[in-house]
Amino acid sequence: MSSCLIPEEAEAAAQQKRILNCKQVDVNQLMPLKYHWAWEHYLNGCHNNWMPSEVPMQKDIELWKSNRLSNDERLVIMRNLGFFSTAESLVGNNIVLAIFKHLTNAEARQYLLRQAFEEAVHTHTFHYIVESLSLDQREVFDMYNAVNSIHAKDAFEMKLTEEVMQEGFTTDTPEGVQTFLKNLIGFYIIMEGIFFYSGFVMILSFHRKNIMTGIGEQFQYILRDESIHLNFGIDLINTIKEENPEVWTPEFKDQIIDMVKEAVELEIQYAADCLPNGILGLNAALFRDYVGYIADRRLERIGLKPQYNTANPFPWMSEVMDLDKEKNFFETRVTQYQSGAALVW
Ligand SMILES: [Fe+2]
Ligand SMILES: [Fe+2]
Repeated sequence: MSSCLIPEEAEAAAQQKRILNCKQVDVNQLMPLKYHWAWEHYLNGCHNNWMPSEVPMQKDIELWKSNRLSNDERLVIMRNLGFFSTAESLVGNNIVLAIFKHLTNAEARQYLLRQAFEEAVHTHTFHYIVESLSLDQREVFDMYNAVNSIHAKDAFEMKLTEEVMQEGFTTDTPEGVQTFLKNLIGFYIIMEGIFFYSGFVMILSFHRKNIMTGIGEQFQYILRDESIHLNFGIDLINTIKEENPEVWTPEFKDQIIDMVKEAVELEIQYAADCLPNGILGLNAALFRDYVGYIADRRLERIGLKPQYNTANPFPWMSEVMDLDKEKNFFETRVTQYQSGAALVW
């Protein structure tokens, strides 16, 4: 293939690209682009550079060391640090060990490389918070073994990584494509699109009340990154569906809905575990509605029917992600980035 293609040749070459099992186009040749959405997500990610160590933590340190936080408030914060600190690694591992090798497309791989870096930055965030607040490192990073509701969510995900990593796994068969789609749905839709969101609500509820604003700010940056990860995942899943329509059978759709329902129950259990007594206007019952609400939104995005039809009890969460509101939420920001200063969702 020549490097200076005339437009019709470039278009023809691009059209031969496929996300899975591409045998026509060299995976090392980014251009001509076919999947412009993947490139756009890559550029959006690159515009959001941030480092956790640039977020001031002094106010958090003072508050954490004072007696002004209740035990219930400390529990919510600790459980969320415990969940996210290892969940970020699981997502990174899944990209590198399970997804990357099977995507036979340069622009999708380009995005995965960026996302993997962002997951490393997110893991770094928990290192930084643990160091800043002088928390027990082992307690935080071992919570995915020690706390049942965290362990259950992570075990659900790790099984999906293992299935794709099994010796002889291939996407050459319809069953293989289905297993691969389950992995993508399990990570992009469920882990990053559902399991992360109760934690975002809990930590950002503190931030809205001006409590633990350093951690709150870090979570806002993570949320911004995760919303791009989720959108990339949805585009990826929908493209694989379009290119392999034979695998998207009624039975398979039912399996996916069952998977999401199982995950919703795990997430509700996790929220109940974090909030044995209500705090800051949050309680486990509200999370039942919220998790159902976001699960429905995710199902719709991949062409599946909503299952819960609950109202969003935290409408302010969409405001957090609203561009016009960025100044209120990022008022603590002191560092300006060359390209990342503007919050673009
Ligand atoms: Fe992440
Ligand atoms: Fe992510």
